[in-house]
Amino acid sequence: MLKARVTLDPAAVVAPVSRRTFGSFVEHMGRCVHTGIYEPGHPLADEDGFRTDVLALTRELGVTTVRYPGGNFVSGYRWEDGVGPRERRPRRRDLAWHSIETNEVGIDEFARWAAKADVEIMYAVNLGTRGVQEALDVHEYLNQPTGTHLADLRARHGAEKPYGIRMWCLGNELDGPWQLGHKTAQEYGRLAAATARALRAAEPGLHLVACGSSGSSMPTFGAWEATVLEHTYDLVDSVSCHAYYEEHDGDLGSFLASATDMDHFVDSVVATADSVGARLRSRKKIQLSFDEWNVWYLSRFQNQPPATRWDVAPPVIEDEYNVADAVVVGSLLISLLRHSDRVTAACQAQLVNVIAPIRTEPGGPAWRQTIFHPFARTAALARGDVLRTAVDAPVYETARYGEAALVDAVATHDAASGDVALFAVNRDLTRPVELTVDLRAFGPPRRPAGSWTLCDDDVRATNTRDRPDRVTLRPAGEVTADGNTATVTLPPVSWTAVRLAQ
Ligand code: AHR
Repeated sequence: MLKARVTLDPAAVVAPVSRRTFGSFVEHMGRCVHTGIYEPGHPLADEDGFRTDVLALTRELGVTTVRYPGGNFVSGYRWEDGVGPRERRPRRRDLAWHSIETNEVGIDEFARWAAKADVEIMYAVNLGTRGVQEALDVHEYLNQPTGTHLADLRARHGAEKPYGIRMWCLGNELDGPWQLGHKTAQEYGRLAAATARALRAAEPGLHLVACGSSGSSMPTFGAWEATVLEHTYDLVDSVSCHAYYEEHDGDLGSFLASATDMDHFVDSVVATADSVGARLRSRKKIQLSFDEWNVWYLSRFQNQPPATRWDVAPPVIEDEYNVADAVVVGSLLISLLRHSDRVTAACQAQLVNVIAPIRTEPGGPAWRQTIFHPFARTAALARGDVLRTAVDAPVYETARYGEAALVDAVATHDAASGDVALFAVNRDLTRPVELTVDLRAFGPPRRPAGSWTLCDDDVRATNTRDRPDRVTLRPAGEVTADGNTATVTLPPVSWTAVRLAQ
């Protein structure tokens, strides 16, 4: 059998697990909001029209932070349209997704949903068609104690207490020519700096996120980050990263190695940010907010004819995920955790229906897509500190990303409980790998206290309305422990989590 080995040491700490790593994203796009989180006529809708089945799945997923309201949508959005009496809210064109926005759900409703889901809101302001004043206005509406015009308006709309939103995204993907209000790095850098300055004057303690590139394949990647950070270095806390992966032309081997690209992406943005910091003689370190990541079959979407009708909440990019997609999602989470010293927030895009772990049918059930499982387990088990996890494993050659390790892994250690959680993927298409976990540095022996594997003889298997649990987690086979060495067998094309308790 193929063999791999990881050595863990409680003293080799990368950083504490940031709970914000387990963020998600709700955009006014397709059926994410309408018939996703919100469907007033649904038999399971609560008094506010929220689907309680989706709320329960959101809690089960372990989501901590949710970015809202977009995405491309936010770059043409007027937040005022979504507040106050519903009957007076305007219907508008959403040019980003060629649909009609009814504005039935706005920030007050979303904040109610977020409280029920027990998640923190990460709010994105429109720096596409709007600017500093509108950012200040929405901040006053959301975060200012009563006693000023917009704060009092919020109170009249039912929310006396400010929402206290900490994380604020300064626009979305403004490097992209598809973005309403697309800008050059200089133009955006200046606007982001002015907006950050204004927001800090209003509330100094906010966590502000400047837009990085919308992807590492953008021609301006790197140069964009450098210019934007030259304008904003002292004013923002984080720069955003966005990455979507898909299997191209049946090349499963490359697809399974997608996390090597994410590793490289993170390292590149860190290097760029640090070089700006060095030039500015700053000791501050910019954090990364990986606030859009997932598997997305973008090429299928790009090959579709453009929409001609103006519909409310039409189905858009409702990708149905298979086993391999879930293994890749698990491996992307491994990459994000591995970089916890710099990636302090991340949002899987998106939460419901739109490239999402949760799917719904209007008037019908909600179910877990395959990608739900590695996310939920990782969010539940990753506690304490992320450990530097060196993996000694065979390598293989990929057409897209060059050499990649057959096994990738990361581990966390919770000093309070003594628990170690190990997350691993086997990228081999046909062969299992025996993974040995060397825990000798831990002292008291650890015993296996739970294991979960996602794999299937059919890597294309999916969950559907009629077979919602076709793909789910099962106990990993053969986890043994001998003193302070544990062994687990990783099936081909699989994601596995193991809990080792004291
Ligand atoms: O998540 C879907 C879209 O992908 C978002 O609206 C946009 O920011 C990104 O390009």
